[in-house]
Amino acid sequence: MLNLLVTNATLPDGRTGMSIAVEGGRIAEVTQGLVAPAHETLDAQGLLVAPHFVDPHFHMDATLSYGLPRVNESGTLLEGIALWGELKPLLTAEALIERALAYCDWAVAKGLLAVRSHVDTSDPSLLAVDALLEVKRQVAPYLDLQLVAFPQDGVLRSPGGVDNLKRALDKGVDVVGGIPHFERTMADGAASVKLLMELAAERSKLVDMHCDESDDPLSRHIETLAFEAQRLGMQGRVAGSHCTSMHSMDNYYVSKLLPLIAESGVGVVSNPLINITLQGRHDTYPKRRGMTRVPELMAAGVNVAFGHDCVMDPWYGMGSGDMLEVAHMGLHVAQMTSQAGIRQCFEAVTTNAARVMHLEGYGLEAGCDASFVLLQARDPVEAIRLRATRLKVFRKGRLLAETPAATAALHLPDRAQATSWMIQKP
Ligand code: FE2
Repeated sequence: MLNLLVTNATLPDGRTGMSIAVEGGRIAEVTQGLVAPAHETLDAQGLLVAPHFVDPHFHMDATLSYGLPRVNESGTLLEGIALWGELKPLLTAEALIERALAYCDWAVAKGLLAVRSHVDTSDPSLLAVDALLEVKRQVAPYLDLQLVAFPQDGVLRSPGGVDNLKRALDKGVDVVGGIPHFERTMADGAASVKLLMELAAERSKLVDMHCDESDDPLSRHIETLAFEAQRLGMQGRVAGSHCTSMHSMDNYYVSKLLPLIAESGVGVVSNPLINITLQGRHDTYPKRRGMTRVPELMAAGVNVAFGHDCVMDPWYGMGSGDMLEVAHMGLHVAQMTSQAGIRQCFEAVTTNAARVMHLEGYGLEAGCDASFVLLQARDPVEAIRLRATRLKVFRKGRLLAETPAATAALHLPDRAQATSWMIQKP
């Protein structure tokens, strides 16, 4: 007998009337109109069942610290980094763990069951590293937390930067990070990419670097990252995050860069909420959007995902762990408003993001983990438009979260009776 049978589901690829059979935490079968005995049956009533959301770029060591010790007045990336520097000496492991666990609860409620978080390795005490390793252990039964060793102050620029990062990897941090545009010179930035890529190759680690988070069109570290990925045979194992300078780059140069990124198998993680907020701050008018060239990268065959990056921290005072909000902003900033473009933005916070993280067992196919979300929407476009309610969130066949359907009762004048409002297509 099946553990769970979901019936009458619409899938993100448009198939309707689908049944999802779950056995032992995994999907046994996905087929149309299956009837089979199950301990529990869930009628999806034609609504969307999607694989869970994935955030491929986050900073869990800073999350929910907004206002500590003060707010970011200028709203710039650099004041955010300075503010984080002020907060770091005040951090305690207990408070950091408490905030991170609270965020993970928010995430689960929103159907976000896998997060790649950078963790700052600049502080020699590695307090944040130890704290997030503890969080990773505690949330493992319900959320995949992947950690990136992130030298926020620059691996070459800060004393002991390389050693601290290596010690974080020794402790069990999963991925090698970097921040080449924050090193003192372009040459140092390129040297940091080479050094960190060789370190990752030696240790067989994935790589995810903050890369060119700047409006400077001459910040071209993504080129070095892609070149090194090819040189070291690390195709498919490397991601460049942000890549906002590409927004401002010369078009001729980009026409040469995009094929290099595609050939190198480097994925790109854009962070729409944060990029639209932090970039272009030195502009008067017109102000640049500062998000990387998402549709062009996708058209070139690059795997592009969207991350949340920040929630209530020194860089950003908004956010709730809702990856549909991220996709919503992404499609606006990138002007991906065609039906196909909107669906690509849905993939950027689901399947593309899962590919960046190398998640095993992800998807809605036989053999995948039964980790999916029932949304109060009939397709991915409606899900983004409404930032749809996550009616039910399952992980490996187990119900983790439920939220009541959103409805509103209207009491309008000159109407015979009150009308109840439901989601409807125009
Ligand atoms: Fe980031």
